[in-house]
Amino acid sequence: MQIYNMKRETQWIWFVLVLLFITHTISALDKPVAREMINNKPEFSGFISIDCGSEIDYLDSESGMWYESDNGYVERGSNHMVSWNVDLNFRYFGKQLNTLRCFPEGERNCYSLKPKEEQTKNSSKYLIRALFSYGNYDGINQAPCFDLYIGVNLAHKVNLSGYENGYWNAEIIHTAPSASTQTIDVCLVRSGPTIPCIASLELRPLNTSIYQTPPTDPQQLLILQLRIDVGTPPLPPPYDSDSFFRYKDDVYDRTWRHNLDGMKDWYSLDMKSVNFDNGSSDYKLPSQVLRTAVQTRNVSKPLQFDFDNVFFEPLDKPFEYFIYFHFAEIEQLPRGQKRVIDITLEFEPILSHPLVLEYLKPVTVSPQKTTRGFVSFNITATSESDAPPILNAFEIYKLITQLDSPTHTADVGAIVDIKSTYQISRLNWQGDPCVPKQYAWEGLICSFSATIPRITSLNLSSSKLMGQINMSFSHLTELEFLDLSLNELEGPLSEFLAELPNLKLLNVTGNKLSGKVPKALKEKADLQLSVDDNPDLCMDSCNKKNFVTPLVASLSALIVILFIALGFWIIKRRQKVMLSDSKKGESLTSKYRAFSYSEILNITENLKTVIGEGGFGKVYFGILQDNTQVAVKLLSSSSAQGYKEFRSEAQLLMIVHHRNLVSLIGYCDEGENKALIYEYMANGSLHQHLSVNNPNFLKWNERLIIAVDAARGLDYLHNGCKPPLIHRDLKPSNILLDQNMHSKIADFGLCRAFRSDTDSHISTLPAGTLGYVDPEFQRTGNSNKKSDIYSFGIILFELITGQHALSRTPEKNVHILEWVIPMVETGDVHNIVDPRLKEEFNINSAWKAVEIALSCISPATAERPDISQILAELKECLSLDIVQRHVKRTKTIFEFTSLRIDSEISPSAR
Ligand SMILES: *[C@@H]1O[C@H](CO)[C@@H](O)[C@H](O)[C@H]1NC(C)=O
Ligand SMILES: *[C@@H]1O[C@H](CO)[C@@H](O)[C@H](O)[C@H]1NC(C)=O
Ligand SMILES: *[C@@H]1O[C@H](CO)[C@@H](O)[C@H](O)[C@H]1NC(C)=O
Ligand SMILES: *[C@@H]1O[C@H](CO)[C@@H](O)[C@H](O)[C@H]1NC(C)=O
Ligand SMILES: *[C@@H]1O[C@H](CO)[C@@H](O)[C@H](O)[C@H]1NC(C)=O
Ligand SMILES: *[C@@H]1O[C@H](CO)[C@@H](O)[C@H](O)[C@H]1NC(C)=O
Repeated sequence: MQIYNMKRETQWIWFVLVLLFITHTISALDKPVAREMINNKPEFSGFISIDCGSEIDYLDSESGMWYESDNGYVERGSNHMVSWNVDLNFRYFGKQLNTLRCFPEGERNCYSLKPKEEQTKNSSKYLIRALFSYGNYDGINQAPCFDLYIGVNLAHKVNLSGYENGYWNAEIIHTAPSASTQTIDVCLVRSGPTIPCIASLELRPLNTSIYQTPPTDPQQLLILQLRIDVGTPPLPPPYDSDSFFRYKDDVYDRTWRHNLDGMKDWYSLDMKSVNFDNGSSDYKLPSQVLRTAVQTRNVSKPLQFDFDNVFFEPLDKPFEYFIYFHFAEIEQLPRGQKRVIDITLEFEPILSHPLVLEYLKPVTVSPQKTTRGFVSFNITATSESDAPPILNAFEIYKLITQLDSPTHTADVGAIVDIKSTYQISRLNWQGDPCVPKQYAWEGLICSFSATIPRITSLNLSSSKLMGQINMSFSHLTELEFLDLSLNELEGPLSEFLAELPNLKLLNVTGNKLSGKVPKALKEKADLQLSVDDNPDLCMDSCNKKNFVTPLVASLSALIVILFIALGFWIIKRRQKVMLSDSKKGESLTSKYRAFSYSEILNITENLKTVIGEGGFGKVYFGILQDNTQVAVKLLSSSSAQGYKEFRSEAQLLMIVHHRNLVSLIGYCDEGENKALIYEYMANGSLHQHLSVNNPNFLKWNERLIIAVDAARGLDYLHNGCKPPLIHRDLKPSNILLDQNMHSKIADFGLCRAFRSDTDSHISTLPAGTLGYVDPEFQRTGNSNKKSDIYSFGIILFELITGQHALSRTPEKNVHILEWVIPMVETGDVHNIVDPRLKEEFNINSAWKAVEIALSCISPATAERPDISQILAELKECLSLDIVQRHVKRTKTIFEFTSLRIDSEISPSAR
């Protein structure tokens, strides 16, 4: 008997252990390993980066940061993607801008950001950045207007009209009150008929020693109006809107806009050799920002800045602002000489002593002023100065003080506990419970008589509350009215409610409470107590009950419940995983439009214009009803091989989406008639542009931009997709150009997923196109990322030389490498570069391009670089070219007209 029991017991123990193990493994699988790796890097400590509307967490290759989906941060809203025909082609933030979360429900919707514990202890100052895009996601072409609140205070009135094809961003420095709840609510509040949407939200902890504001007020907001890296030229169009530094250059991830326009009697200094380390000042300005500056040509001339349009919102009354001037001496002045500067702001001197700049010692000066919207300042050199005045960078922030105080932290803590204990899901139970008054949580009444609002009444009547009366109610210490009537509360009527000093009414009518009403409650002065309709609750004497039976019963019930709950939990988790998968599938197919074959004939005017020919059929030009131009790829009925490619292409395009990959609009699947409908690429393929017959040959920088774009697309396939995708048929006819000459990769018919770098894909099918196929792949049949790199190298050589990969002579085909390599060996880059360019290119840039191309075609596949590295190098190539052209420009155009830096160029791009 005993042995048998033992066995039973051990079986149970094993069962529990196995269950525990399973649940543990399931939850471990949930945690993305990469995210841990990235977020544990010390430099990211405390960063929160959220891509609103994204279904997945991912590593953003441009910033090197881990962006999270917003699922855990916000309770409501729906996810959207910006329209296909809006191209948010930005170097930074492009990926985040493409997905949105919008809030059709409720007046106020809040993200709650919880900074890490150790951060909140040491620092209560944060940089919060919110990005907003619209991109006609709903197809009605009406940009939204709404309010942005940080905590309980209005920070911005957001108006996205004028930003339909770009984005608008807000950067706010928030100083949390020291005893605050350590949750920062960022709320979108409706201010009109349109639906608020947000694209991304970021939080960066700052050292409290910087961006100091008056200490009198515990709660303040600094709203960024302008932050300029003076002296760094903006990139030329179309990259001008990408022209800024952020992380990793800036450890706090501030965005520093470049600016040089509007110089008068000034010139810019760029001391490339100078390096500032992060410790050189508390503000930790990036070296790239500090090492550039403007300075006047004459010691006696001031640097004069006037702005009459710095502030975003209409100015109905004067307000305070802070301006932060950042100086650093970057020139090594001759011995004994010094640079001494003075500053006047609004025509008043602001320094008690002139500032003597020391070599490589950054200094920040931060006066506070009142304005009606106009900001003007002069930097002058004093009479002792041997060098003219300089300025390296500056920032202007609007200061908002005398803010509304949030609700008392104890009350917030208690009500949040109550909300989660009873899983109360009311539409407006988000953000601060009492403030602003018009958005106070439904069922609450607050008192605003003291500086800190308190909850005085809580009505949870008929709210489906289950379980016992929670301790948290007793933490609402100012509570006067508590209505818990008509719920399913069980257990005793707790004595702790009697400790609420001001409680005047307690209504628990219509619950399942049991036991005796505590004496303390019955005798509490001024308390009106309603306890009707609780069958097991007794006012005075209750029947004595056997205590043992309930105890045993409840213990065994507890065990049973535990197991059931565990089982349910596991099942639910599985369901959740499955659900989210099927949800994704749904949204994918529904996102793409299904066309009937007659529609296809209609939009292509009966297959009138052929614009290309792919592996499995012809490509036709078409126009949709809304005038969107499209390319229609029709599967020819004879092609069996084609059908496989066609299907693989359709499947892939439903998964991958990137601005440098040609995107799918819809499909047709009607028996024999199968078609894919793509965005139309107005400028055809790179192949057409490289043709010697093309009179409008590409300029050098256009070629580099095309290469950079294509590299980005390939980088996404190789490094942004899991598992990585190999294109296997990269060639200039698969690189298409849009109306702005941005390139996108097309033709994913041969694309294959593969598991890892070592485990390559072995294919029996021929893949690729003669001239572009990696010889290593031809030999072994192994294709991997490095085979794409080879093809990319050939394309680079074509871009450099303007020649096709194979040039046909009457006798035979000559491969580009056969004649390029010998020329490279003689070191004569001028003969390699397309002769049509004449000398219109930067020689260093050309050399670098040749070097990159050479590395790509290395016979030793292991030596071929990863596409991410190629991308970085190509960008450098582009910047070499830009710098060169910029120098030329500033040499010829010294005199700029008047200074015009307005809010247009910063901090919101376009
Ligand atoms: C916060 O301060 C404590 C000491 O007060 C220190 O031990 C800890 O390292 C600090 N944390 C951070 C992130 O700076
Ligand atoms: C938003 O801006 C547009 C253009 O600047 C203006 O016409 C419109 O009235 C603004 N909307 C609101 C609600 O302020
Ligand atoms: C913040 O700045 C102060 C003053 O420079 C410095 O002592 C402190 O270490 C800094 N704290 C952090 C967390 O970087
Ligand atoms: C600098 O300006 C002063 C006064 O305008 C003028 O007298 C002087 O010649 C200028 N010096 C140079 C080097 O241009
Ligand atoms: C509480 O709310 C219910 C309806 O939700 C209402 O009938 C009741 O009067 C309210 N109680 C108090 C004390 O205001
Ligand atoms: C208590 O709640 C019940 C049900 O909502 C209501 O009928 C009753 O009037 C309330 N009692 C008091 C004193 O407010």
